[in-house]
Amino acid sequence: MAVEAGLDAQRIQELDRQHVLHSWSVQSQITPLPVAGAEGRYFWDYDGKRYLDFASQLVNVNIGYQHPKVVAAIKEQADRLTTIGPPMAHETRSELARLIAEVTPGDLTMSFFTNGGAEANENAIKLARWYTGRHKIVARYRSYHGATAGAITATGDPRRWPAEPGIPGIVRALDPYTYRCPAGHPDPCPVCTGAPHLEEILQYEGPQNVAAVIMETIVGTNGVIVPPDGYLQAIREVCDRHGILLILDEVMAGFGRSGKWFACEHWDVVPDIMTVAKGINSGYVPLGAMVIREPLAEWVQDKYFAGGLTYSGHVLACAAAIASIEAFGEEGIVENSAAMGDVVADGLARLQEKHEAIGEIRGKGLFWGIELVRDRATREPLVPFNASGEAFAPVARIMKAAMERGLYLMTHWNVIMICPPLTITREELDEGLGILDEVLQEN
Ligand SMILES: Cc1ncc(COP(=O)(O)O)c(C=O)c1O
Repeated sequence: MAVEAGLDAQRIQELDRQHVLHSWSVQSQITPLPVAGAEGRYFWDYDGKRYLDFASQLVNVNIGYQHPKVVAAIKEQADRLTTIGPPMAHETRSELARLIAEVTPGDLTMSFFTNGGAEANENAIKLARWYTGRHKIVARYRSYHGATAGAITATGDPRRWPAEPGIPGIVRALDPYTYRCPAGHPDPCPVCTGAPHLEEILQYEGPQNVAAVIMETIVGTNGVIVPPDGYLQAIREVCDRHGILLILDEVMAGFGRSGKWFACEHWDVVPDIMTVAKGINSGYVPLGAMVIREPLAEWVQDKYFAGGLTYSGHVLACAAAIASIEAFGEEGIVENSAAMGDVVADGLARLQEKHEAIGEIRGKGLFWGIELVRDRATREPLVPFNASGEAFAPVARIMKAAMERGLYLMTHWNVIMICPPLTITREELDEGLGILDEVLQEN
């Protein structure tokens, strides 16, 4: 066995094609870009071409690339201790758990660490069932909760289909998607206000059978859907009345993405269980967590917690998270997300005035979606639900044109996501929005 060193872009691509199985794609139809490096809000290829990342990769590199403080913390931890199993206590893990209790709202005080978001949701579902002694979980259609068995069953979008029938007991609810409201959006709307729709579902399912409602506080991949004011409070109230736990998935919305530490703070709602990952340490080392409120933490104290992962609370990941949270505080990164969010809001409003194809813009902080339509009056989407191949071509063209001009965009069917690292500057935002303007003009 000899290790090949100093691979060029072509060889990287060859090996990638032969040996790497990529997520959510038809392998023969993709050509992943070999990335040579990254810093701040940019990554670059082997020709030295730079790309401004308006997606933070998978909406996870919240702090930007190669933040020196986070890199140093990983190195320092690696020098001291690279790994220690979850049966032990370790200062890095303990300190991170304390910090999470500090930055999360209310009495969310205890963390079960995972390798990412799916496992956090998996454990949240398990704990909710165990705690309540009930088995049903209400989840929404326009959602993504991860790719493991339970999380993908709770997921509403078509990535769920190949995994079906999945785990039993998932009950589906509609989303407060005001632009395409499934109830026709009367005033007041039974779906978009939250309570009437949930109450109706509970009537049919029997509230005494429902362990939890799980939802993304702000829907991410499935269109950046921000709930109307009052929605989340109403869901919280219905859950409380029926002894149902509220699980808020803040894997994408959390850690400053929405302009506050956690999106639920926009509506002063504290979930019983919050799941986090991504922005917790920007993916420098994989990490997620299920964070639980005090009553749950107390309840679980003298019970046997039947959950575990070899890498739960991996010290390298925890060290990265501590440094990242500290940098968020020192550098005002959450505040920057809120301030730059206002710049994005203004910039997108101007684009909407100019481009007929923009049906709606929506978002908070640096978490925005641009919904593209064929016709503003009918709201016919630019590409259909679950579009791929030829049907997706109009949006694929926009992505490709942006990439050629050095702007990396993430799209989901007819929605372009604007989710840059939270450290982005005004100049960088202007650069990206300028490119977006050009490509919308030409495509
Ligand atoms: C809202 C949400 N929840 C859960 C997940 C799953 O996280 P992971 O891919 O780390 O398992 C994602 C990933 O995109 C997500 O966006």
